[in-house]
Parts: sequence; structure tokens; C-alpha cells
Amino acid sequence: MVKEAVEYLNCHQDGIYIDGTLGSGGHSLEILKCSSPNGRLIGIDWDEDAITVAKNRLNHFQDRVTIIYDNFNNLGDIVRNLKVHEVDGILLDLGVSSIQLENEDRGFSFRLEGPIDMRMDKSSRLKAFDLVNSFSIPELEQILWNYGEERFGKRIARSIADYRKHKPISTTVELADIVSAAIPSRFRPKRIHPATKAFQAIRIAVNDEFRNLETAIQVGIDLLRKGGRFCVISFHSLEDRIVKQSFRLLERGCICPPGMPECNCQKESEVKVLTKKPVLPSEDEIRENPRSRSAKLRVAERI
Ligand SMILES: C[S@@+](CC[C@H](N)C(=O)[O-])C[C@H]1O[C@@H](n2cnc3c(N)ncnc32)[C@H](O)[C@@H]1O
Repeated sequence: MVKEAVEYLNCHQDGIYIDGTLGSGGHSLEILKCSSPNGRLIGIDWDEDAITVAKNRLNHFQDRVTIIYDNFNNLGDIVRNLKVHEVDGILLDLGVSSIQLENEDRGFSFRLEGPIDMRMDKSSRLKAFDLVNSFSIPELEQILWNYGEERFGKRIARSIADYRKHKPISTTVELADIVSAAIPSRFRPKRIHPATKAFQAIRIAVNDEFRNLETAIQVGIDLLRKGGRFCVISFHSLEDRIVKQSFRLLERGCICPPGMPECNCQKESEVKVLTKKPVLPSEDEIRENPRSRSAKLRVAERI
């Protein structure tokens, strides 16, 4: 959804834009092109591998790009340190990058055998290995439900706990097999791998993805100048729900309980939501890149 997201950012040649999820720099490249010749881009990622790839790819635009290795939940400090007061657009393209997914050493994929790691930021402390091998059954169950809506969470959590009594669970394929075996065969999904939801849930927990997203939206909206836009591309329904609800709350004015004689919350509407329904990828894009099929773009404009 590069084209749609960049169009919504409404780039102009003097604008300052933040790509909070730089990845390999695909979206950033388009933002730089459409804000040419003077537009400035601040690209953020907390994965050193992504930073290296994006630096090379955007090398040509060096004087207009600032690349920062950090968590996008630090948007406020990042921008302040750069002595920037307001920006014209912010983009978050959530989820894992192909650089991460296709490297078996990063441990994101149930298809590639590797250590269970799943940290996007390799300097953070908690690996998926620690979570899977030391969290209690109720904690695991809660993660599987809250972040993956995995209805067999209890069975999976119990199977994980039984297995690790004998030896630690150390590889992605080992974990995928334990998860698959815990789901009764008649309920195993046909179109996706049975471990998809569990892997997604564990990854979200390891990287604290939902909290980072909520913080980035709250902080980011305050950094936008009037008319500036916040675009978020999400990849699953729980993430999309956070974006939808956060934007809706920012759009609402008074939130006093009904029946109050007068408003005392003083809340004012901060944004106009430009996408009442999420923008979905075109059929061509899905054909070219099947992973885009679950993408949803939502956009809010600062008022
Ligand atoms: C789907 S990829 C982005 C791909 C990118 N738009 C491109 O065109 O190549 C998501 C990227 O966001 C990064 N990321 C996810 N959460 C982050 C966070 N809280 N702070 C910084 N980067 C984050 C990941 O490390 C990953 O590189």
C-alpha cells in the first residue's frame, strides 16, 4: 500500500515527514520522491539490520534524510532532539519486515528452523525463548488470547508447559509442532499454518507492539501541524482496532457522561478521520504480494 499511504500523506516539497517503521526504506523512498526537492524525512527503526539496509537504499538522498535507530514510541524525544517543532506527516507500516521474517536466525517464522527469538530490536532483553520457557500457563494463555485470539490458548499453554518439563523449547519448528499438535485436528485451519496465531501473539508480546502503537499515536498527533496527517498500515484486526479506536477518541469532542448540565471535561476534537472505512490493497497488489492481503490503512488529519 505504498501508493495509497504516500498519497494520503499529501507530501509537499517543504514538508517534514516521519517514517516510524523504516524497514528496508520502500515507503521512505516514495516519500522522498514525492516531497522533492526539499522535503525532509526522519526514518526510524529499532532493528539495526533494517537501518543498514535503508541507509544504503536512501544514500542518494543523504542531505534530506535523518535515520534514527530507536523505538517509535520515543517519537517526541526524537523530534525534539532534532530541534524540529512540527511535522507534516507520520507513517507507521506495522508488523515484521521481510528482512526479519526471511532470516531464520531472527526466529520469526514457523517455516524456517531457527532459535526462537522474535525480537525486532536485538538489544532488548526478552526473547521469545524466555517467554515460552518461563512464563506460567495462565500468562501464556492470556498472551495467546489477547494478542492472537487463539481459542485453543489453554491447550497450547498446557502443551508448552508439559514439553518444557523435559527440555527447553529452543527452535521455531519445535514450537510450531507443539502448537499444531495441541490444536484438535478437526479445528486446525486449512488456509494458514496452525501456529500462525500463536506465533503472532508471542511476537506481539515480545515486542510490546500494542503499547508502542498506542503511545506513538498519542505522541505523534501532538507533533503534527494543522492539516498534517497520521497514516497507519496494520496487518491484523486487533492492531486495526487500536488504530480505529485511538483515532475515534481523538476525533471526539466532549466525553462527559450524557445528562451533564454542562461540559467539564474540556476535551476538544484533535483530528478528523479521513478513512471512515479502512483503505484496502488493490487486487493487483495482493496478486503481486500475497502478504499484503490483510493490510488496512487508516488516516487521521490534525485539525
Ligand atoms: C513492515 S516493516 C516496514 C517496511 C517499510 N515500510 C518498507 O517499505 O520497507 C516494519 C518495520 O517497523 C519496525 N518496527 C516495528 N515496531 C517498531 C517500533 N516500535 N519502533 C521502531 N521500529 C519498529 C520493524 O523493525 C520493521 O523494520
